[in-house]
Formats: sequence, C-alpha cells, structure tokens
Amino acid sequence: MDGANLGDIESYVEGLFIEEDSALRLALEDAEEAGLPEIHVSPMQGRLLHLIAAISGASRILEVGTLGGYSTIHFARALPEDGRLITLELSGEHADIARRNFERAGLSEKIEVRVGDAKEAMRAMISSGESAFDIIFIDAEKEGYIEYLELSLALSRIGTVIIADNTIRGGSVIRGDTPDGRAMHDFNRHFAAHERLDGTIVPLIRQYVDGIAIGRVLH
Ligand code: SAH
Ligand code: DHB
Ligand code: MG
Repeated sequence: MDGANLGDIESYVEGLFIEEDSALRLALEDAEEAGLPEIHVSPMQGRLLHLIAAISGASRILEVGTLGGYSTIHFARALPEDGRLITLELSGEHADIARRNFERAGLSEKIEVRVGDAKEAMRAMISSGESAFDIIFIDAEKEGYIEYLELSLALSRIGTVIIADNTIRGGSVIRGDTPDGRAMHDFNRHFAAHERLDGTIVPLIRQYVDGIAIGRVLH
C-alpha cells in the first residue's frame, strides 16, 4: 500500500470524526505563524489521546513536551472539573504560545505549563513528593525517552497509563537509518521488556505510519 492510500484512509477517518473548533484550529495556525515545527500529534491521534483520558477517568495528567499545546488541549478537554494537567516544555517561546492557546480554549485553570528541561522538572517533582499521575504522555526529544520512562514510573501508581509518541516513525525504528529511529527502537525494546509495564504499540496513520506505545503500570 502506498503513501497516497494511507493519506486517503487518514482523510476518510478525519472526515467522519474530526470537526475541529476554533480553539484547536487557531492553536495550530498560531504555532505555524510563529514558526514552530509542525510536529504536533495528528487530529486522529488527538482524538485517541482524548478518548484514553476520558475512558480511564483521568484527573491528573502529565505531559512531557508541550510545543503549542495542541495535544494538551485534547487531553485537558477530557478532564473533570477539578482535573489538572501539568505540561513540561524547554522553550519559553513554545510555552508562551501554548499558554495563549489554553487561554483561548478556556482551559487555563486546568493546565500548568512548566518551562525548563523536563527531566529536571520530573526529578524535582519526585523529590517534592508529587502525587502519582493517572496518565503520563512522553513526547519530547527522542534520545531522552528511556530516561523519561523511568522518571515517569517514579511518578506513577499501579494502573497509571504511560503513553509515548513516535514509536514507529515511518519505519525508521526498523531500518535504523536515523538517530531518532535508533533511539526510538531502543526505547521500544526497553518499554516492551519492562517488568513494571503491561503494554503495546498501536500503529497509526499520520500522513506516514507512526505509532504510540501505551503501557499500564503493574506495580
Ligand atoms: N505534544 C506536542 C508536541 C511536542 S513536540 C503536541 O503533540 O502538540 C516536542 C516538544 O518538546 C518541543 O516543543 C520541544 O521544545 C520540547 N522539548 C525538547 N526537549 C525538551 C526537554 N529536554 N525538556 C522539555 N521539553 C523539551
Ligand atoms: C518529530 C517529533 C515529534 O514528536 C513528532 O510527533 C513528529 C516528528 C520530529 O522531531 O521530527
Ligand atoms: Mg510526537
């Protein structure tokens, strides 16, 4: 099956389920105008993340890698009234754009953006005894994923759902032809073999084939 067919299938599903409101649309438009890389999750992926949060009844979500806050908005919209999401972002510029997008989406009360290196932020949370999260979404620099997973486990309870983006990357995890592809293959093996996780990778279409790893913390 070639790329055009994958694109047709993605468009087909989007045509059925994706009706983006102005907050989501403007979140992408403003990010693009500011020159941010277009590496946000796809609309289909956003729906899936939203559904996982809603199905699991999550009220505390941690996100690693905010960009313009597109994935964040999908997650935060699944939160109950008293639910909270903390999102970690290295770039102050990305964080500023994201905060504006949360304001426009009416989600500022539920979302806190912390600027700085996410590993340091997670270590600080672990030291300060931060309560466990219900969902942790890993989507920052790919060489950091194994460490992000271990830090995530330290911020988890039994049943926490850990999700990682970009686990297929158009097959570069199989070919090993890019540094990120190799990093993600190493991550996938670590994730799959982890004795504290029950998990899988769900391949999905986002122009090319990518995937998310989903794991449930066992102990
Ligand atoms: N989750 C977003 C996309 C995130 S893109 C969405 O789907 O809409 C990855 C983001 O991680 C970028 O904004 C990048 O600046 C940020 N990032 C990269 N390295 C980081 C680090 N060490 N700590 C925190 N954020 C980092
Ligand atoms: C890239 C990063 C991402 O998180 C993503 O979802 C897609 C692409 C990238 O760095 O190329
Ligand atoms: Mg990603």
